[in-house]
Amino acid sequence: MGRYDLALVGFGGVNRALAELISHKEDHLAKELGLALRVVAITDLRAGSLVDIEGIDLTPLLAVEPGELSFAGLAGGSADPRNEWVIREVPADIVVEATFTNPIDGEPAFSHVRWALESGKHVCTTNKGPVALAGRALKRLAAERSVSFEFEGSVLSGTPVLRTAGRMFGGLDITGVQGIMNGTSNYILGRLEEGIELSAALAEAQELGYAEADPTADIEGHDVQLKVMILANEVLGADLRREDVFCEGISAITPQEVRDATSKGLRWKLVGSATRHEDGRVDARVAPLALPAHHPLAGISGPVNAVAFHTDLLGTVTVCGPGAGRVETAYALLSDIIAIHQRHADRDTAATRPVLKETHRG
Ligand code: HSE
Repeated sequence: MGRYDLALVGFGGVNRALAELISHKEDHLAKELGLALRVVAITDLRAGSLVDIEGIDLTPLLAVEPGELSFAGLAGGSADPRNEWVIREVPADIVVEATFTNPIDGEPAFSHVRWALESGKHVCTTNKGPVALAGRALKRLAAERSVSFEFEGSVLSGTPVLRTAGRMFGGLDITGVQGIMNGTSNYILGRLEEGIELSAALAEAQELGYAEADPTADIEGHDVQLKVMILANEVLGADLRREDVFCEGISAITPQEVRDATSKGLRWKLVGSATRHEDGRVDARVAPLALPAHHPLAGISGPVNAVAFHTDLLGTVTVCGPGAGRVETAYALLSDIIAIHQRHADRDTAATRPVLKETHRG
């Protein structure tokens, strides 16, 4: 049995959903995968921090409404998130980072990931910022410390786009990728086709939990820009910065344009794409396109996302599935944990590591 102690950084929708999955799927994970997971620390901007190296009882925490949760006053709890101390000092095997994405410098998530890797802990994250802006450096740091840095959920939540490309496309030459990678904008474009105004459609997408905390990133394409950078860097071997990726969102598209396109058999989609040229140069862009019905991305509707890989031997291979949602994104983290387990099963984990005595502070 592989036993892993987890430190959850951020306890919003995604890491709460992961805690629920860990609780509900305990038997399944043990029987099917030989995996036992225990949460030993949680930090959160609003709730504070909670540490119990014997394993936190998640049930009472999950019974409290998210906005009302506070760790202050609990044994091992504090109103202070104590992020750096928890990440560096609490003896966890895996740090699970699910705080908000900052597209400018990737902070504070970049520091969370760096502290964990420097401390010799595996990291999984759903956070696009550190992966898009500093993925290469963080992967180098992980390799130096012989730990894993996993980030499947940074693109298309739990739909395994990165792992499919990384593990299943051996021997193929991938020349380009094209994707619908933002559920909010795709949902809105679909609602515009049905005659709903953009502001009302956005409110629906927020209500359904697809939109970012600041939906500007969804509407103006910046969310897709980061995902295109991650795909281009991971799949096409590029090293793109944000300013290398042209970005236009859907805010200028009018309901009339959407209806006109529909009458001609076209569908507006916000498409992120990256192409590798023969000299190795990679071009990437995000822009709305009116796609003909036969295009592999034209039929992708609502919050569903898809990525089409252009390959030398198979032509176009398209992976589609959910691109957002708390459970779907939590599954990405679970898939990362499983990947870590499969890669490091023979290494030191909670099952074998000596217990540190000094784990609580203040
Ligand atoms: N706001 C994003 C979307 C969530 O709508 O797809 C995942 O990045």
